[in-house]
Amino acid sequence: MPAPWHDSPMMKAARREPSGRVPVWLMRQAGRYMAEYREIRRDLGFLELCKTPQLCAEVMLTAVERLGVDAAILFSDLLLILEPMGLQLAFPAGKGPVLQNPIRQATDVDRLGELESIDPLEFVVEAVRRTRAGLDDALPLIGFAGAPFTLAAYAVEGGASRDYRRAKTLMYGDTGAWHALMTRLCRAIILYLNAQIDAGVQLVQLFDSWAGCLGTDDYRRYVLPYSRSVIESLAPGVPVIHFATGNPALLPLLREAGGSVIGVDWRVRLDDAWAAIGGDRAIQGNLDPAVLLTDPATIRRRAGEILDQAAGRPGHVFNLGHGVLPQTPVENAIALVDAVHELGSR
Ligand code: CP3
Repeated sequence: MPAPWHDSPMMKAARREPSGRVPVWLMRQAGRYMAEYREIRRDLGFLELCKTPQLCAEVMLTAVERLGVDAAILFSDLLLILEPMGLQLAFPAGKGPVLQNPIRQATDVDRLGELESIDPLEFVVEAVRRTRAGLDDALPLIGFAGAPFTLAAYAVEGGASRDYRRAKTLMYGDTGAWHALMTRLCRAIILYLNAQIDAGVQLVQLFDSWAGCLGTDDYRRYVLPYSRSVIESLAPGVPVIHFATGNPALLPLLREAGGSVIGVDWRVRLDDAWAAIGGDRAIQGNLDPAVLLTDPATIRRRAGEILDQAAGRPGHVFNLGHGVLPQTPVENAIALVDAVHELGSR
């Protein structure tokens, strides 16, 4: 007998089977917009939280129950994988993440160590086990990792960037160093995601949050082969959600790199996005997270517009086009989930 989550709306949508209703979950569904999360963070740094598996599980399970979403995602962070590879990671209060010893030039690439085993990231594997153990059997758990480009760009920039000029200088200027960096990251990501799969996740999402800064030719040349090699090396039968943001022109290339579900942001209509991706893939998205700052009636109307574009085709996973903003009222996030469940079950 297959596990109960096997026939959940989320898993069915990922396989493009009719799912009864449109499943919905939210990127960053556990986070600062939620009072329960802020309470846990009151006496605990974000990194410490990420390294305490039981609390990671509790944070996510609380969010899933509060929102009534159709999937949980591992509570962790994109950049943790870089720590055992030798980069010093910090989350200074009120700022985005910082890598204190970034890879600034080709000669620094050797400083990025090989992730030889999953042992230093055992806390992530344990967070998967505990989240899976506490989660309703009817709901799937999503694992995740950063895509090679986004991780490489973080490793080189050392933090948030407006123009990605350091990463691009390395990428455009020294193909050999770029290849070495991306190859090492690919091996680490494959190890990391397969460990999450072994520990009990049902799907994985690859976040290429920064890929939108690239044009199509550069994405094809410098990024696509690496993302493809990651996706091709994952345990078969586990759907991959391939997500990027910022540049809808990349959608056909994301599809080419792989993934059974392509994640899209709000900069493109969902029906146009699906046409660009092709009907043989599922799609995830794509409400502008800022809509959640308005009111339930507006949220319901905007969710309805996206559902109309999906037009009841199997293979739509409703989500935001990017993560929940910290200023979001929780009631509005709940109103969105309720609206999708109601309007998406016709
Ligand atoms: O979706 C979820 O609820 C699961 C957990 C999750 C977090 N980060 C928790 C988090 C996931 C899937 C991520 C992925 C992640 N992390 C990405 C890819 C997705 C995206 O947003 O594009 C990126 C780029 C990161 C790196 C990162 N971590 C940034 C840029 C920040 C700062 C964000 C901000 O608004 O300040 C973080 C911190 C972070 N990751 C928080 C959470 C809940 C906030 C930490 C806190 O202050 O308590």
